[in-house]
Amino acid sequence: IPSPENLEDFVKFSFHTKVFENNIGYLRFDMFGDCELLSRVSNLLVEHVWKKIMDTDALIIDLRYNVGGPTSSIAILCSYFFDEGHPILLDKVYNRPNNTTTDIWTHSQLKGVRYGFHKGLVILTSSVTAGAAEEFVSIMKRLSRAFVVGQRTSGGCHPPQMYHVDGTDLYVTIPTSRSVLSVDGTWEGVGVTPHLAVPAEVALVRAKETLNAHLHSPS
Ligand SMILES: *[C@@H]1O[C@H](CO)[C@@H](O)[C@H](O)[C@H]1NC(C)=O
Ligand SMILES: *[C@@H]1O[C@H](CO)[C@@H](O)[C@H](O)[C@H]1NC(C)=O
Repeated sequence: IPSPENLEDFVKFSFHTKVFENNIGYLRFDMFGDCELLSRVSNLLVEHVWKKIMDTDALIIDLRYNVGGPTSSIAILCSYFFDEGHPILLDKVYNRPNNTTTDIWTHSQLKGVRYGFHKGLVILTSSVTAGAAEEFVSIMKRLSRAFVVGQRTSGGCHPPQMYHVDGTDLYVTIPTSRSVLSVDGTWEGVGVTPHLAVPAEVALVRAKETLNAHLHSPS
């Protein structure tokens, strides 16, 4: 976790934005952070990241290099792409250590403005896309909120926990929670299949073509 004086650099380094022609926004980040970290940088995120892309007509989120991380910020990220006043159940996550299932809902309070439900959203994936990134893309795909372009994701798991094996020097790292909302739509161990399967290297070009065709077609 970066020190307070490095937070601005951390945000600028971790999130890459661009605006392509036809006002198509682009956002790339390669890891998910936890809620605590995100709440510490939320003003910086709005200022240096979100304001650059929030007024675009469509957005590409590039998760081709995203290796996951904590899942606690996923609900907030998803919430930006739905409209206010309509809570949506994003997932149910079963946690084995305490034998409970937690419902994951969109948040009603967000920093900055929402992108909303109606603007085009494409998520880019590759076989490297893992963990929290797969949870995010699987939710957005299941809710028909994003068009997924690229490769089938890695088929990882929710953040695993490390346990010490009693009386030994051994540690094991194992997943202890899983998505249970939709049994046949699970991504763990199998990955998320894109809508448009293309090699990762050409996913961005294909996403732009798809969005441009859409933005130009009479609605
Ligand atoms: C069970 O554990 C999960 C993960 O640590 C936590 O999010 C959840 O709040 C816990 N539920 C209860 C009822 O303790
Ligand atoms: C987990 O909770 C369910 C009820 O929610 C209960 O039926 C089951 O026996 C519990 N399992 C364990 C291992 O405690």
